[in-house]
Amino acid sequence: MIKNDLFLRALKGETVERPPVWMMRQAGRYLPEFMAIKKEYDFFTRCQTPDLASEITVQPIRRYGMDAAILFSDILVIPQAMNIEVEMKPNFGPYLPNPIRTAKDVEQVIIPDTEESLGYVMEAIKLTKEKLDNEIPLIGFAGSPWTILCYCVQGQGSKNFDKAKAFCFTQPVAAHQLLQKITDTTIDYLKAKVRAGVDAVQVFDSWGGMLSPEDYTEFSWKYIQQIIDALKDEAPVIVFGKGCWFALGDMAKSGASALGVDWTCSARNARYLSGGQITLQGNFDPARLLSPPKEIKRMVTEMIDAFGKDRYIANLGHGILPNIPIENAGAFVEAVKEYRQK
Ligand code: CP3
Repeated sequence: MIKNDLFLRALKGETVERPPVWMMRQAGRYLPEFMAIKKEYDFFTRCQTPDLASEITVQPIRRYGMDAAILFSDILVIPQAMNIEVEMKPNFGPYLPNPIRTAKDVEQVIIPDTEESLGYVMEAIKLTKEKLDNEIPLIGFAGSPWTILCYCVQGQGSKNFDKAKAFCFTQPVAAHQLLQKITDTTIDYLKAKVRAGVDAVQVFDSWGGMLSPEDYTEFSWKYIQQIIDALKDEAPVIVFGKGCWFALGDMAKSGASALGVDWTCSARNARYLSGGQITLQGNFDPARLLSPPKEIKRMVTEMIDAFGKDRYIANLGHGILPNIPIENAGAFVEAVKEYRQK
């Protein structure tokens, strides 16, 4: 049994003394101990070496004592396993030299046995669980099929993912074939992660907010729902859709245990749109961690008051930024841990 089960209790909607806290991208470049490892090993070596991945996963826990760890890895290991080449270029980000642009390209994409091709992730999970020693739960994750398609078709990061959208709107049959292949792979992958030991899974739909509500239903939500259906009896599922406040109503009825919210949606609105019953996670503006620690603490307390301490997981509204001072990240975690209901 896990000693600190605040996070798992919040996912079940149970009453808690205070909300649990973790930060999206908490294993990252704002940490000097992360930068020390980054200097020595390139990105995918860090992902593929269980010793390194598990060490990076526990670094923020040692420093700050969050209530959950998230495995260090990347959403783009899925296209890699599907035979799509992915590079991580320093100071540039993801780069896919042969992006998917035609029905023929989609045909070439394989659905791998993830237990085998992503065995290094499963090993990293087992090693991380040993290092965590049942103190706190471990979160596994995957990108949403739409967000993965964005990179596969665009070939790199983008402000509007125009090529990905053009592919969906001009070649919808091929786009849906690709989305289904990614979905099947992702379900297989997340199930393997649960078998390896993760206690919950999060689906990152980082680019869902690029789509209109109608297109979101067709090209993103439909596939996320398949993932929830397949996983919900194995582990609690958190869905984080950036810019997807319009979908909170459907998401709340999906069987997910919790929904992520970004900072452009107020707590009140998020509760209203999601029907008031489901656990919500978020939504501190990551850039607000640049404010002085005293101000961060005040704003975090107000955020918890606004969401309410129950059915709530304190987090950022997206990943932590690389330029955040380490003491400011500390103030965020401390403020949640010091929270007492008025
Ligand atoms: O949350 C955690 O601490 C776990 C680690 C994690 C990483 N990527 C490590 C990483 C997680 C959960 C991700 C998910 C991810 N990866 C997403 C969804 C979440 C989000 O932020 O929207 C996306 C869109 C990606 C794709 C990706 N990976 C991009 C766009 C980049 C480059 C931009 C950047 O932030 O540097 C990456 C690289 C990456 N993944 C880094 C880290 C720590 C930084 C590069 C490095 O360490 O060399």
